[in-house]
This record gives sequence, C-alpha cells and structure tokens, in this order.
Amino acid sequence: MQKLRIQGPTRLQGTIPISGAKNAALPVLAACLLADSEVELHNVPAVQDIRTMLRLLEHLGVENERLGDAVILRPTGCANPDEAPYDLVKTMRASVLVLGPLLARRGHARVSLPGGCAIGVRPIDLHLTALEALGAEVTIEHGYVEARGRLRGCRHRFLNPTVGGTENLLMAASMAQGTTVLENCAREPEIIDLARLLTAMGAVIEGAGESTITIEGQDRLGGANHTIIPDRIQDGTYLIGAALTRGDVTVEGARSADLAPLLEKLDEIGAQVDVSKDRIRVRNEGPLKPRGMITEPFPGFPTDLQAQYMTLMTQAEGVSTVSETVFENRFQHVPELVRMGADIRIDGTYARIHGPSELSGTSVMATDLRASACLVLAGLVARGETLVHRIYHLDRGYERMESKLQMLGACVERIN
Ligand code: EPZ
Repeated sequence: MQKLRIQGPTRLQGTIPISGAKNAALPVLAACLLADSEVELHNVPAVQDIRTMLRLLEHLGVENERLGDAVILRPTGCANPDEAPYDLVKTMRASVLVLGPLLARRGHARVSLPGGCAIGVRPIDLHLTALEALGAEVTIEHGYVEARGRLRGCRHRFLNPTVGGTENLLMAASMAQGTTVLENCAREPEIIDLARLLTAMGAVIEGAGESTITIEGQDRLGGANHTIIPDRIQDGTYLIGAALTRGDVTVEGARSADLAPLLEKLDEIGAQVDVSKDRIRVRNEGPLKPRGMITEPFPGFPTDLQAQYMTLMTQAEGVSTVSETVFENRFQHVPELVRMGADIRIDGTYARIHGPSELSGTSVMATDLRASACLVLAGLVARGETLVHRIYHLDRGYERMESKLQMLGACVERIN
C-alpha cells in the first residue's frame, strides 16, 4: 500500500493551480444520465472518486472518453440496467446521486444503500422522503433502495439542508411533470454548479444557491458543454498550509466567495490574506492567534476543512475550540495528531486545542479523505519524518497532493 513520506519542518512557498471540484464533478456526472445527447465537461479532476463514478455511468449505459482535463459523455442508447450495484456503491457514497436522474429519466432505479461511513451514519432518508413527495414509490429490500413511478412536481421542504439530497432532487425534478418547489435546500457552490449544467441541458431552474429552488420539469434534456468550478476544499487546504508553515502560497483559479468563512478566520488569526479576481494569496510570518470555529452548512465554515483547521490551531498560541455540527464522528484525526504531540481534548463533537505544540514526525494512519489531508499538513510542521499510511483516502479527492506540495518546496514523496 502506498504512503506519503514527509520531511519536516518545511515552509510552503509558491503558486499552484487548483483542479476542478470533486464534489461538484460527482453530481454533474450523475446528471449526464438525464441527457439524450453528448455532454462535454471540462476541469474534471483526475481523482479516484471520479473514476468510480465514470465506471458506474458506463455500467448504466453512458460511455465516456477522457481528453486531458475534459470528459465527453455519450448515452449509448442500448438497453441498460437501472441498477447501481453494491460493488460500486460501497466504495463511494456519492453513487447514490444516480438515484434521482435514473428514476426521472427511466421511471425506475435500483441503487445499493451506501451503508455507514468513517465520519458518521450518513443516512439517505431525506433524499427518499423528497422523492416520495414527487410521487415515487420507494421500497428498501435486500440492501437496495428501489424507486419507481412517474414523477410529478410538488412543494417539498427538506427537514434539514442536505447537499446530496438537494442535488438528487434537483436532477429528478428537472424531468418531472410540472413545477417543483424545494424549500430548506442546501446552498453550497456545488449545487449552483449542478444547476448551471442542468440549465445548459435545457432545464428551467430558479434559486439555486438559495434556500428555495423552483424547477420547471422538462420532457427531455439535451447535451451541453460545461466547466466544473475549482475545488474550494483543496484551495483551503493549501492556504491553511501557508498559514501553518509561516509560508506564502498563492492558489490560481480560486474563487474567494466560496472560501469566505475560511479567509475570514485566516485573517482573524493573523495571516495576511490577499484576494484578487481569480487568485488568493495567504502569507504568515508571525505567531498565530487561537480562534474558535463551528462547522456549518454553507455559507458557514465547511466541515471538509475542519480537520485541516484543527492542525492549524495546534500551532496557535493559546486555547482554541472546534465544534463539529455536520457529522457526528469527524474527529478521527485527533488521536493521530495527539500521537504527533498535539494537545487536543475531545468532548463529543467539541474539541479544545491547546497550542502551540511542537509536533514530531511518526507513522500515522489516515481514516478518511480530509483526515488524511490534515495529517499531511501536520507532517509539514513536524520535526523529522512523518509517514502517512492509507493514502488511498487522500487519492479519492486530492489530485496528486505530493506534486503540488513539491511545487511549494515541501519535501514529500509517495512510497510503496
Ligand atoms: C456532501 O456530502 C459532500 N460529499 C461531503 O464531502 C461534505 O462533507 C458534505 O456534503 C457536507 O458539506 C459530496 O458532495 C460528494 P449532506 P452529503 O447530505 O451530501 C445528514 C468530502 O470529504 N443527512 O449535506 O452526504 C448527514 O448524515 C465529503 O469530500 C441525513 O440525516 O452531505 C449529515 O449529518 C465527505 N439524511 C448531514 O445531514 C439524509 O438523507 C449533512 O449531510 C442526508 C443527510
């Protein structure tokens, strides 16, 4: 199994480009099931989760061709199964995003239930209740959710904002009969990106990025040409790295509005943040101030940057707190950070970090995607050698992270 070897401490300095957002590309790929002709996507990241989604689409009758950062998707027109099997879904929860488009286009879908996940139980009940409100008949049997029926527009309020649920429903309602009004929707930038693609395909959508979204269902959706938005979580990870290592990092192609809560925090803790049209620069020379943080749905601080922010706070001078409100089990990086010398105490979904701690390199185990990134960051400030094991988690969402860190001057290599 591959691991990353990091020699620290190091200072990150330089400019890097950022690839397309995995979490925007996944629903956009699922939406290609709705198109009756070719969809051309640009800025599609070459990460493991995207390869898994492309395999699933192939299985469902949409072939693909990769040309650099572009992917061209074509419906094959052959009689395809409407089923997302366990073998594909178990490796990636986002496979459940094919449920809405399959059902809307073909009147039937059978998708394996994704099961639990390292960061929480992550049920899909909110997706299913909303599909039922659209008229689907939903049954769960033998570990599969099966949905069938002709979808009809309706007014539905999500009990809580859900990113995947909003995306699934946006796709389903785009081919439902009549008008759908979805309330209490998630407002993440990735949802706006999906709505942009659906609109280019011929859907009529108003309010994406707001709590209430109105969708006029269409009989058919066609092909489109679409560019995926930059990955705000990758951007944020490298910018946190700049503040952490007293470095100076510019990310090109970044969108500051998507990262506002992080940039405000970086400014508060004493880093210098410069924003221009399509780049963000973060510098830090002095000591860091401790600041509390609460994860929340967008436009709050993203849970996907919580672990990285916690690594940053291990170097702040004083006590800071982190409250995780989105997932119930997203502190699995803490014991590993503690093994490296961090002083962090957990009480449920609340953590207190006493800094600054002098971290020292050792072998650490990645447990999920963002936990892996936080351990890599910790390795950059730790004295000596850090070995991050199980980096297949990292490869699900970061495009060769070690290459980008090398461009910034870090001593990082991938070893077998
Ligand atoms: C998306 O997951 C992201 N994944 C996650 O990215 C991200 O952490 C999360 O949104 C929150 O921002 C993709 O976009 C592919 P939710 P999703 O539905 O859609 C509960 C990463 O590291 N819930 O908004 O699954 C759920 O358990 C990751 O890239 C229900 O109870 O998130 C959670 O506590 C991991 N019932 C909360 O809502 C449901 O039916 C928010 O989940 C759905 C969700």
